[in-house]
This record gives sequence, structure tokens and C-alpha cells, in this order.
Amino acid sequence: MEQRTPDRDTRDPRDSAAAPVFHASGLTKIYRMGEVDVPALRGVDLDLYRGEFVVMLGPSGSGKSTLLNILGGLDVPTSGEVWYCDHRLDGADEDALTLFRREHVGFVFQFYNLIPSLTALENVALVTEIARAPMAPEDALAQVGLGERLHHFPTQLSGGEQQRVAIARAIAKRPDVLLCDEPTGALDSITGVRVLQALETVNRELGTTTVVITHNADIARMADRVLHLADGRIAREQRNETRVSAGELSW
Ligand SMILES: Nc1ncnc2c1ncn2[C@@H]1O[C@H](COP(=O)(O)OP(=O)(O)OP(=O)(O)O)[C@@H](O)[C@H]1O
Ligand SMILES: [Mg+2]
Repeated sequence: MEQRTPDRDTRDPRDSAAAPVFHASGLTKIYRMGEVDVPALRGVDLDLYRGEFVVMLGPSGSGKSTLLNILGGLDVPTSGEVWYCDHRLDGADEDALTLFRREHVGFVFQFYNLIPSLTALENVALVTEIARAPMAPEDALAQVGLGERLHHFPTQLSGGEQQRVAIARAIAKRPDVLLCDEPTGALDSITGVRVLQALETVNRELGTTTVVITHNADIARMADRVLHLADGRIAREQRNETRVSAGELSW
């Protein structure tokens, strides 16, 4: 994976608080469907900073998941640059992207993808066994409020609890970044709030840079920054003066 050359960034490198963890410029993504080109991103410029809680809103098809997948190294752009610190992600090969994801990124998706035959603890332990400096699985589950549910199987847990196991699994390797694609999409308001509280705790206690895609504009109130996507571009960006705690949200 190409390293960032010092001269491409004129900021003082000692000023780490101001340096973005993600830097993207001119990102485009075109999916080729037979003879038809489907543009998913049409020129995205983006900086994300350490410890930020960012919410991404936008209509269906506006490119949210595509952008998140490119940031997380699950996909590569058609053109444009994307960097994670000094790792260049565009044009990186599959091995480099796999390593990048393993070392730096936790993912949470709408559907929890837990292994049904394993307990909550075992689902989390699967990840910690291959991580470099993981938390104890018990601690990751305690962090999301499931310290009393260690030996439950997925079918013995509610949807919100299963999603919190998925969050525990994602954070147990202490990722720098947590990327969440509609983490409350399948949940009712009360359960969804518990899941958001878990994300809030992780962001606050571990300083994990967190991006949450949602269709629920109310969730934007808990963000430092809100990105509004439309038609493959960031149409608008909003910075919240104060963050509302997840516990105060309902929808
Ligand atoms: N694998 C793919 N192959 C072809 N086209 C795709 C693929 N993934 C996404 N697209 C197209 O790219 C565009 C952006 O899709 P994307 O999934 O990023 O949108 P989204 O904002 O996440 O939407 P939603 O809110 O419905 O999840 C859409 O037009 C979609 O049809
Ligand atoms: Mg999506």
C-alpha cells in the first residue's frame, strides 16, 4: 500500500488533533451493469477527524453505503483519492485492504450476522482470537450493556441485544474506526436508542471515530457533524453546536 508523501500535506504533522484520519478527494464510483453505467458517487471530498461522531443522511440510492464501503476498504473508488492516515486505499490490492480492515475498522450492519450456534461471548471471541491487542470479550459485552447475557445464544436475545453483540464484536479488537450502516434500521425506537447508547459509549470511552448511516433524521442530533448525501455527492454538511445524548432521542 502506497505511503503518503510528506509534501502532499502542508499541515504541521505535529498538529495531530487537526489532521484528518480519513481524507478523500474527488471520489467517484461507477458500477457497470452490463451495458449500463450506474454512477453511485459523483465527486466526494471528505475529511473525517479522530474521535468524531458523524451521521450520514440521504435518500435511498444517494451513495451512502458506497461511500462507507470505500472508507472501510470493502470497495474501491472508480477515481479519486482516499487515504486513511498514511494508507492510500484507492488502488490498494485485496490483501492490503484486508489488512487495513483487520487492523483499523469495525463494521456494524443492519442485520447482525451473528453465528446462531455460538453464544454472545463466543461470537465476540471469534474476532478477539485473531486481533492484535483485543479487549476481553466479556469487557466488550459489558461496554454495550450485555455483561449479564454472555452465555445467551442469538435466538435467546432480542433484536436490539443481538445488534449490541454485533457492536461488541466490532469494538472488541479496539478499532480506530467504527462504520455503521443503518444499525437501527431493523429496530423499534426504544431498542434503537439502546443500540445508539452503546455506540455513544464506545465513541466517548474509546475515542473511536464513528460513522453512522441512517434514514432517521432525529439520530443526526447526536452527531458532531452531519453529512447530507444527494445524488452521489455531499450536498450539505452541518455541525451541531451540542450533541444530544442518545437517551433523549425517540422516534
Ligand atoms: N453492487 C452494485 N452494483 C450496481 N449498482 C450498485 C451497487 N451498489 C450500489 N449500486 C447503485 O449505486 C447507487 C448508490 O447506492 P448505495 O447503496 O450507495 O445507496 P444508499 O444511499 O446506501 O441507499 P439506501 O439508503 O437505499 O441504502 C444506487 O443507484 C445503487 O443502485
Ligand atoms: Mg445503503
